[in-house]
Amino acid sequence: MRVIVIGGTGHIGSYLVPRLVRAGHAVLSVSRGRRSPYRACAEWAAVESVVADRAAEDCSGTFGRRIAELHPDAVIDLLCYRPESARLLVEALAGRVRQFLHCGTIWVHGEAEVVPTPESAPRRPIGEYGINKNATEDYLLGEARRSGFPAAVVHPGHIVGPGWNILNPQGHFNPAVFQTIADGNELLLPNLGLECVHHVHADDVAQCFERAMERPGAAVGESFHAVSPGALTLLGYARAAYGWFGRAPRLAFLPLAEFSRRLAPEDAAQTAEHIGRSPCMSIAKARALLGYAPRYTSLEACREAVEWLVAQGRISAARP
Ligand SMILES: NC(=O)c1ccc[n+]([C@@H]2O[C@H](COP(=O)([O-])OP(=O)(O)OC[C@H]3O[C@@H](n4cnc5c(N)ncnc54)[C@H](OP(=O)(O)O)[C@@H]3O)[C@@H](O)[C@H]2O)c1
Repeated sequence: MRVIVIGGTGHIGSYLVPRLVRAGHAVLSVSRGRRSPYRACAEWAAVESVVADRAAEDCSGTFGRRIAELHPDAVIDLLCYRPESARLLVEALAGRVRQFLHCGTIWVHGEAEVVPTPESAPRRPIGEYGINKNATEDYLLGEARRSGFPAAVVHPGHIVGPGWNILNPQGHFNPAVFQTIADGNELLLPNLGLECVHHVHADDVAQCFERAMERPGAAVGESFHAVSPGALTLLGYARAAYGWFGRAPRLAFLPLAEFSRRLAPEDAAQTAEHIGRSPCMSIAKARALLGYAPRYTSLEACREAVEWLVAQGRISAARP
């Protein structure tokens, strides 16, 4: 198929685009051309790069037409945050594509209630990002039911991989936490350290998109969590991370309010965002309908990303 990936050079696209090329598709990657993929690999030579600013062209109302004029068989939209933005594409592509895959987020769910949380759990998203992503999914799956538009949605967890800062055992993105751990120093955790985070390797997100493309009959009209096989508690994550550096865990615990006062405000805000949801998602539906089989556990994915931080000299330590 002729497949357009919108936002194809980021965390997900760096793995998804080469996968689609290997599967024999003609792939076009749309971005502003400001960055390179996280991984250099030979498959990119076969990819057509299309330079466009989606935000600007959404404002001028031209983005849908631009994508339609590229004559795709399938579109994978990694860059849509609002239903109005999705509508522009649906109106331009209706009746012209065999598949349309949208990237959502597990933050369409609010605070965890039943865990592991299925896609069908009642939705109570918190914050503008989750609310708008949920409304976008409602719109797209509504179009699938109403008019047969071939939409499906993939919801990644916290995406990790070598090349960027990952969500750490304190629940924020400051890599200094891994330095504390590598040095064998004491790490503070909020509450009892029992709130969850749910990572996924970027290549496993890519796998979920690829499986959804391979099985349109199962995917269209549905949404799927794309996370690792099991969430981590902050405590379990921290203990494992000390082990990567050959250190014994040195953990201390404080109630969230007091813990937050000890952190930089931006780090504390991130932790509150993450543990305020405490995600632990089910992948039973993606396994059953798509054959999704993540290659990485959360710890394997995080360890690979931390090895990259060490190799880059961003954490000074012997390799974990
Ligand atoms: N990161 C996470 O942990 C996470 C978790 C759950 C869900 N998600 C979802 O994942 C999606 C993002 O995927 P990602 O993390 O792979 O993205 P990413 O790493 O942030 O990369 C964004 C991609 O889009 C391009 N881009 C950014 N702004 C653009 C614009 N205005 N016009 C055209 N291209 C633009 C970037 O290239 P240029 O800069 O060169 O344009 C790049 O190719 C979003 O839908 C997000 O809601 C992410």
